[in-house]
Amino acid sequence: MNERNACVIGMQWGDEGKGKIIDLLSEDFDIVVRTQGGSNAGHTVVVDKEKFVLHLIPSGILREQVTCVIGNGVVVDPEQLTEEMAGLRERNIEIPGRLLISDRAQVVMPYHKALDGAKEKALGDRKIGTTLRGIGPAYTEKVARTGIRMCDLIDPQVCRARLETQIPLVNAVLQNVYSEPPVDAAKTIDWAIRCGSELKPMVADAALFINEAVRSGQTVLFEGAQGSLLDIDFGTYPYNTSSNSSVGGMITGSGLPPREMGRVIGVLKAYITRVGAGPFPTEQDDETGAELRKRGDEFGATTGRPRRCGWFDAVAARYSAMINGVDELAITKLDVLQGLDPLKICVAYEIDGRRVESFPAQAEQLAAAQPVYEEMPGWHGDTAQGESLADLCPEAVAYVRRLCDLTGAPAKVISIGSGRDQTLVG
Ligand code: IMP
Repeated sequence: MNERNACVIGMQWGDEGKGKIIDLLSEDFDIVVRTQGGSNAGHTVVVDKEKFVLHLIPSGILREQVTCVIGNGVVVDPEQLTEEMAGLRERNIEIPGRLLISDRAQVVMPYHKALDGAKEKALGDRKIGTTLRGIGPAYTEKVARTGIRMCDLIDPQVCRARLETQIPLVNAVLQNVYSEPPVDAAKTIDWAIRCGSELKPMVADAALFINEAVRSGQTVLFEGAQGSLLDIDFGTYPYNTSSNSSVGGMITGSGLPPREMGRVIGVLKAYITRVGAGPFPTEQDDETGAELRKRGDEFGATTGRPRRCGWFDAVAARYSAMINGVDELAITKLDVLQGLDPLKICVAYEIDGRRVESFPAQAEQLAAAQPVYEEMPGWHGDTAQGESLADLCPEAVAYVRRLCDLTGAPAKVISIGSGRDQTLVG
């Protein structure tokens, strides 16, 4: 392991507050790399009371000394990226020379979004509740070897040739499978070539860049997107995203070998939320859930959808700690729990009358799981300030310690508000 590097991983269904943790840590890193997902992500960072929501550009862009990399494992929506860069420029964040896009990254085409919407519509009650950002279809085409990569997008001849082959196939699916209108081939090709010429100055061999940087002594922070329970292999299949949002995706999505990966920092919210469909054993579809949503401002940063809220699930947390090899935890939004008394923690599931302490593979099994709760006293004292965990009231300290014991990793950072200064050391 290269102790100088670090990986930040979401341990739940996304929205754990990774943006803030990455922003805090990136102060000490030279390079911040996104390795999977696309504009389905929404990383919120508050700097001096100013709120930034980033979808594709790594949160490290808010630190002047950081170079940001969009790795080969990411699916890049050129329009979203251009919009995001313009938004940052308006707020005086410099981009030139600080953002690099892997030439091997896949491109999200407008027809991927059309396919995403068409498929969700066709699934009806069984829909996944995707962000409709074209993520699933873009990864589907990557694996089917019919995707367009950044190196193709910036080469007009290759881009045209690939799209001339691909668009008729996509249109056949849109029209014949989903009874949806076809996309206009000529317009799509023109759009793609235009996007390619705009992004060309930033496209490079990112794997080479990162490896050379590490060899020369620079440090890398990996910015996870989504959460481990949304991972294509380890998540609540099929109610998950289409990339490896657990730590393995950071290797295949960057080109940096495993021995260079650093310590793994797992981000856990002090309760749990989920957006979209799928099983959620500790969901509180009642006043408790509504209260958590209100206090925690639990609305999707990408889609604005209300997030489903529930009690902390230690079975899921332990599972995430295992598959990611989590070395330390960053626990977020502890302040949101202030005043809720008692607090519940799910320590096991009961499935078909049996006690289960591991995370089931099948969504139907997880949907049948009854949470086995342990109760802890809540607290009424102020949890929105302090410098270290010990500054909080004993009930809050006990709650954090219990989450760590159940998850099997120590908490090094505890976040008690959105500001950079509202952070405690464990
Ligand atoms: P997709 O990634 O848009 O295909 O959506 C698949 C599932 O992952 C849906 O349930 C989404 O709500 C969820 N999802 C995708 N990205 C995020 C994220 O960044 N935070 C939380 N949920 C997400």
